[in-house]
Amino acid sequence: MIFFEKSTCFFMAILTLTGFKGGVGKTTSAICIACLLGSDTLLIDSDPNRSATLWARKGKLPFRVCDEKEAPKLLSRNQYKNIIIDTPARPAQDEIESLAKGCDLMILPTSPEPLAIAALAQIASSLPVGTQYRALLTMCPPSPQKDGREALDALQKQGLPVFERLIRRYKVYIKASDLGLPVASVPGSSVAWSDWKELYKELKEYV
Ligand SMILES: Nc1ncnc2c1ncn2[C@@H]1O[C@H](COP(=O)(O)OP(=O)(O)OP(=O)(O)O)[C@@H](O)[C@H]1O
Ligand SMILES: [Mg+2]
Repeated sequence: MIFFEKSTCFFMAILTLTGFKGGVGKTTSAICIACLLGSDTLLIDSDPNRSATLWARKGKLPFRVCDEKEAPKLLSRNQYKNIIIDTPARPAQDEIESLAKGCDLMILPTSPEPLAIAALAQIASSLPVGTQYRALLTMCPPSPQKDGREALDALQKQGLPVFERLIRRYKVYIKASDLGLPVASVPGSSVAWSDWKELYKELKEYV
């Protein structure tokens, strides 16, 4: 995993997506947020599984994806305004501390299931004091199911910082990664993509 010292860089925002639990939408969220931020965004894929790199393999995403070995050279050109870092699940404690030091906002995606929420609470409590972070509820069953809303209420009651917008569960995400496309380019994605457009309003404070 690669770590950046914020003070040596010239970009506007570094957002890191991480979490203890696997399969909760870290990579999907990293790709969707990068799509929102546009072409002057660099997504650094620091997961050895290279899921974001695979998603980008067809060259159809509107931003660059690189691994941590290529990142220093690309960053030295100072052409990127926003950096997004996608990490593997369950970073070690020393990695969490370095990731926290090197970003402006840590985004902790979680599904609304109790086990995922428990993993979220664990990583939140392991962050260094003063870390700017927000949980992001992903893969929430669409209405009338209330799992997402109930998880949001529970997190807010615990005083955990969390994006108010829920990202709902739809099939277009699997299609988008399979076809190497932005979610918004998959036919029938407008409802799913509307979640990200709403989320962007909350994210704007950081980018
Ligand atoms: N909102 C969503 N609706 C439906 N499926 C989703 C959604 N978000 C992610 N998925 C699917 O869930 C699976 C896991 O998502 P993703 O790879 O983003 O999770 P991850 O946390 O990065 O996993 P890992 O820990 O393995 O890196 C993928 O098949 C993805 O397409
Ligand atoms: Mg991933």
